[in-house]
Amino acid sequence: MKLLVVGSGGREHAVIKKLKENPKAEKIFALPGNGGIAADAECVPIAATDIDGIVDFAVKNEIDYAVVTPDDPLVLGAVDALEAKGIPCFGPRKNAAVIEGSKVFSKNLMKKYGIPTAKYEVFSDMEAALSYLDTAPIPTVVKADGLALGKGVIIAFTREEAKAAVLSMMRDKAFGKSGDNIVIEEFLEGPEVSVLSFTDGKTIVPMVSSMDHKRAGDNDTGLNTGGMGTVAPNPYYTPAVAERCMKEIFLPTVAAMNAEGRTFKGCLYFGLMITADGPKVIEYNCRFGDPETQVVLPLLESDLLEIMLAVTEERLSGAEVRFSEKSACCVIAASAGYPQKYEKHKPLSIDESVLPHVYVAGAVKEDGVLYTNGGRVLGVTAVENTLPEAIEAAYGMMEKITFENKYCRSDIGARAMKALH
Ligand code: AMP
Ligand code: GLY
Repeated sequence: MKLLVVGSGGREHAVIKKLKENPKAEKIFALPGNGGIAADAECVPIAATDIDGIVDFAVKNEIDYAVVTPDDPLVLGAVDALEAKGIPCFGPRKNAAVIEGSKVFSKNLMKKYGIPTAKYEVFSDMEAALSYLDTAPIPTVVKADGLALGKGVIIAFTREEAKAAVLSMMRDKAFGKSGDNIVIEEFLEGPEVSVLSFTDGKTIVPMVSSMDHKRAGDNDTGLNTGGMGTVAPNPYYTPAVAERCMKEIFLPTVAAMNAEGRTFKGCLYFGLMITADGPKVIEYNCRFGDPETQVVLPLLESDLLEIMLAVTEERLSGAEVRFSEKSACCVIAASAGYPQKYEKHKPLSIDESVLPHVYVAGAVKEDGVLYTNGGRVLGVTAVENTLPEAIEAAYGMMEKITFENKYCRSDIGARAMKALH
């Protein structure tokens, strides 16, 4: 089969490495991929948001199956456009990707179908939002409706901060049209768990749970990032919590999307908070998480391509989806200064012994040499029998990767370890 994977991050690298384990995957193209992904797929410089370019390439190159992983092309309708040309895809159609593309949609969906989430109000009028904040419970959370590169969520600990967030989104258009509507919601507390799932709209199969580390600094300090590391499984996701999530959140979400005529097929990501009142949905994503994928897929013992095909062909109930009992830890190496100002184009050296465990997010290859080309440069994942062993092995491998101004958090997995004791 000739496969096409849309995207260019560490997540896409993890998907590609896993797809390659199936001998049926004769050829994999990455659009656009990156200098590190080039070791595992043929990279073609077509942007992930260039839907016409992607479709054109897929048709000309007789692609048998396409995997669309990032949020923007999914929300823009990449799957609909590929399917219209007869190319089967893994990923939700546009009318289902809205579960991530619009927070107003997802909040209203949860309210309508009784799926537990933070209490909220929606505003399209700035003055109404500002006056609501005069009496709203504090802390509160202000969210831009649309996609905002993960930056559209402000946790406000004072009324002034909350109002500043509203002004920045609605008056100053910090996120463009994504801030035309906003959600102001209840501040929830508790450990966070990421659960990715496969669903074909009939069956939903949760993958092993994971824990992201979103803040730039140790002990969860500093700015929010795209994710500085992950561990799986997440010790807060106990069998009892998992059972409640299936009954109160996962199955009702699949049913709700069907009832709305928006059947979701692909990877549905549940960002959960385990509150004193039980698990609640913080956010849905219409895709694999990054860097959750870099710990979840290395633990997948079954064949990813076969699972994806089963999702597309709506026969997931008969597919084998088995995860290892082991633990995984992924540590991200970023360019110092990320997520703000940082330097790029530093020579990147990766010892051959660790290459199979490396997922490259931001690198270019020039004349056979890899250079850094992004805030998050790469991740390295270790799979071991226990979490402490996985953490130690991941940090050990990280020492075999060098570039100028390399920055890693030193405490990936520490919070999970505390939960185990
Ligand atoms: P999101 O972009 O929706 O993933 O939100 C980013 C982060 O903000 C989440 O991972 C949570 O840590 C935090 N967050 C979002 N909504 C809430 C909430 N209602 N209460 C507390 N924290 C939240
Ligand atoms: N790691 C969170 C996300 O992919 O949105």
